Amino acid sequence: MTDLNGIFAQGGMKLLGIIGDPVAHSLSPALFSFLLRELGTGEGFQYRAWRVRPEAMGAFLARIRESATVGLNVTIPHKETVVTFLDGLDATAQVLEAVNTVKETSGQLIGYNTDWLGFLRSLQAREVVIAGRTAVVLGAGGAAKAVVYALIREGIARLTIYNRTATRAETLAQEMRRKMGFAPICAVCPEDGEDVLAETLQEASLLVNTTSVGMYPRVNESPLPDPSVLHAGLIVYDSIYNPLQTRFMQQAERRGALVLGGLDMLIYQALESLRIWLGQAGLPWVARAEALLPELRQRLTEQLRSGAERGR
Ligand code: ATR
Repeated sequence: MTDLNGIFAQGGMKLLGIIGDPVAHSLSPALFSFLLRELGTGEGFQYRAWRVRPEAMGAFLARIRESATVGLNVTIPHKETVVTFLDGLDATAQVLEAVNTVKETSGQLIGYNTDWLGFLRSLQAREVVIAGRTAVVLGAGGAAKAVVYALIREGIARLTIYNRTATRAETLAQEMRRKMGFAPICAVCPEDGEDVLAETLQEASLLVNTTSVGMYPRVNESPLPDPSVLHAGLIVYDSIYNPLQTRFMQQAERRGALVLGGLDMLIYQALESLRIWLGQAGLPWVARAEALLPELRQRLTEQLRSGAERGR
């Protein structure tokens, strides 16, 4: 077997990194630096973080195209806007109209989305079965779209989107009905009243927060104004990983729910990016990376904890 440097060279992969704005707090550089070091890429491949302003995206990608063949991760606020600068999208990125992974293939920049798979695999790792369940998703932005897509693909029976802005929730529900042919999806908003959310949650067994409410630095906030609507029959998932334990997760734990945080979603979406970049020839290396996940999780947890102690 060739070494990983050989696989990267075959794939033409020379430049890896994440683009976002801001990007300084991203965990992806630490995550990929650990994996690449442990997999033995030597000094040849570095994973960088580039802060790219929205108005500079075209120029940045033009430079990237000229400089070397690439593997990119894309984060906030570029996941949707980057689409117009790419040469093609895979089937899922087309449905989601959002990209978090870019790979250069034969001189073309192709966009992929691995966020939905990150969410799905993090649930599978905990042996959570989605098929047949009733779910409530808090939020209606890009992260919500990826989560809703994953849930529908995995056979969720019924889905409610709860969002502060009613029109956004309605639009997402309609879009998924149209694009995925999934009818049992509806939208609820705060104006419908607390009772409607409480009743909806009473019938649900999965609740996922995809909003940014509770994310560092606003750690005392929760996407649920009244935690008494939570119950012990729920699996509660927060897609936020900083802090590791959000206010929302604490509330759910107190009500006896099974609680999962967002760190594994981050880890698994990264692993799926690696799978795309390395292609078929890299599958043994992806398997090796998978074996490193417990240690990776431990390292990222320590990094987040020490960041919290330093007050960031
Ligand atoms: P992302 O792509 O990360 O999902 P986004 O598209 O900006 O980011 O979506 C953020 C989500 O968090 C939205 O559902 C947003 O609600 P609105 O559609 O009403 O804006 C939700 N959100 C953000 N801040 C919020 C707050 N303070 N209270 C309630 N919901 C909030």
